[in-house]
Amino acid sequence: MTNYHKVKLLEFPERGDERGHLVIVEGMLDIPFEIKRVFYIYGSDSDIVRGQHANRKSQFVLINVAGTSKVKVKDGLGNEAVFSLDRPHTGIYLPSMVWKDMYDFSEDSVLLCLSSEHYDASEYIRDYQKFVDIMKKEL
Ligand code: TYD
Repeated sequence: MTNYHKVKLLEFPERGDERGHLVIVEGMLDIPFEIKRVFYIYGSDSDIVRGQHANRKSQFVLINVAGTSKVKVKDGLGNEAVFSLDRPHTGIYLPSMVWKDMYDFSEDSVLLCLSSEHYDASEYIRDYQKFVDIMKKEL
């Protein structure tokens, strides 16, 4: 079984009150890993495709804290699914070894990315064919 079936949307607790919204994301409680790295993506035009990689080790949770975008996830074996990120209290969980493309960014999109690992370029697979070959071998 590949990790593809572990991809899922997560709903985070909201503790808003009359002062405004508050959304909470705690490592190992609201998401299935401890958070080692946070980065965010904004200012991408609507025709830009980001991501386009799989990670041997890193797990991610992506949250559009403002605006909207889409995430396409592939298992390299013919299965793919598209998720819309359009609410600040909803995230997508991306385990290791799934291919992901982020696209269709709204002008106001701020895509917050939480990761289980520090940045290590050597665990990124950026060649789709290479990813497919690895996934086929694991069958
Ligand atoms: P990239 O992984 O292509 O961004 P995305 O997947 O969000 O489209 O990263 C772009 C550049 O930034 C690339 O040279 C690697 C570098 N980078 C880091 O140094 N640290 C990081 O945590 C990330 C996400 C990227």
